Amino acid sequence: MQLYVGLTPAYSPHISESKTCSPCHTLISNTVDLSGVPTGTTFVEQATYHEYLNSDYPLVEMATCQTCHMPKIEDPIKIANGYTALPGRTPFNLHTFSGANNFMVQLIKDNKVSLGVSALDSRFDSTLKVNTELLKFQTLDLISQYDSTWNDTAYFSIQLKNKAGHKFPSGYPSRRAVVQFVALKANGDTLFSSGIFDNDFEVQNIATPFESHHEFINSPSQTQIYEMVMGDVNGNKTTVLERASAPLKDNRLPPKGFTTLHWYDTCAIVGDALNDVDFNKTGGIEGKGHDIIHYHLPLGGYSGNLTVEVKVYYQTLPPAFLDEMKTFSSAEIDTFLSMYANANKTPILIKSDSLNNVLIPVGLRILFGEINEVPILILKASSTIQACLQKRN
Ligand code: HEC
Ligand code: HEC
Repeated sequence: MQLYVGLTPAYSPHISESKTCSPCHTLISNTVDLSGVPTGTTFVEQATYHEYLNSDYPLVEMATCQTCHMPKIEDPIKIANGYTALPGRTPFNLHTFSGANNFMVQLIKDNKVSLGVSALDSRFDSTLKVNTELLKFQTLDLISQYDSTWNDTAYFSIQLKNKAGHKFPSGYPSRRAVVQFVALKANGDTLFSSGIFDNDFEVQNIATPFESHHEFINSPSQTQIYEMVMGDVNGNKTTVLERASAPLKDNRLPPKGFTTLHWYDTCAIVGDALNDVDFNKTGGIEGKGHDIIHYHLPLGGYSGNLTVEVKVYYQTLPPAFLDEMKTFSSAEIDTFLSMYANANKTPILIKSDSLNNVLIPVGLRILFGEINEVPILILKASSTIQACLQKRN
């Protein structure tokens, strides 16, 4: 740099601190009304840094944003090309910035000629790969459990534990995670399903204007969707960023250590998740960073084996997020919408779990309060068995 640009770089420790990321990864917008007139109020559109502060990561885990997004390597690195005599520097953090937005990376790759993007395909591919790995291996733990059968209803609990250093999903407001739950009878027929996508990758039976958070799911028309939903000045759902005035829903999974006591005003939980006793809580104690969804399956008289499959999908740009954009027209909007129409919109499967051959006992329509205690066989070699047995004891 001294030779070519005449600048002498100086070392400063702040570049390794999370604060370096905060000015951009905290985004507060100035709200406008439906005519575009500023209201004088603001809206916290993205608060990844505040979510991180309100967690165990800064002080207990001692993890910075860089720990996860710019992994440190042990080997010394020559920080310039073509100078074989340069000494290796250490520590060095890879500038991977692995994130979650594979959809746009793929869309830009597919349209790189018309967009004038010169990056090599191999660069896009390496980004897609590290993002996919982050989403699949560092985002969530998923634990499925069969609880009991009672009065023609089978009870399951599905626990999702957030492993990210902030809410999941964090960042841009279109992000969402959808939990799919399917129970199959011994003959392969579906007994119950929730969170199924249609051909456009919208969730079937999704409620209007948006799907609320669920503590219990007992109908196929209900789906657990982790997301932030923005409201405009009239309290109606909006996806126009500048119109956002207050959140209508925010049940994104908090990071572990998250509490309602500090750094909370900018990253609050909003809506039904607030009253859910298993959302970020166990026995009233906050900071668990998890949610437990209770599925109550109407059996309709069925007994025998059930196989349950749980899948968590991540979507950066769900189709409904563009509905309002489609009511406007400009060169940029039209170009983007045509690229979107041709894009691969398949959500990313980030986690799955299954319970095989859960034996649903016969004759459990309870009469006279009698409880039928038929032994339960779960043919799955996992900690789930232990958890179920403990629960039953
Ligand atoms: C000068 C502003 C700025 C700073 C400082 C900054 N970022 Fe970003 N970052 C952005 C913007 C803008 C994007 C979105 C780029 C896009 O998707 O078009 C982004 C994207 C990302 C992504 C990828 C998101 C995705 O969806 O894939 C990650 C991860 C990320 N930043 C992490 C960091 C970390 C960690 C730091 C601190 C070391 C940091 N950023 C500092 C502006 C910034
Ligand atoms: C413990 C690991 C960890 C730490 C610490 C962490 N992140 Fe992340 N980050 C993740 C994971 C995993 C994801 C993917 C899941 C998601 O989108 O929330 C992610 C996603 C992101 C995204 C993508 C969001 C989008 O819109 O697609 C951004 C931006 C980001 N992180 C920035 C940050 C910043 C800034 C910090 C520090 C304030 C930080 N992260 C700290 C693990 C971490």
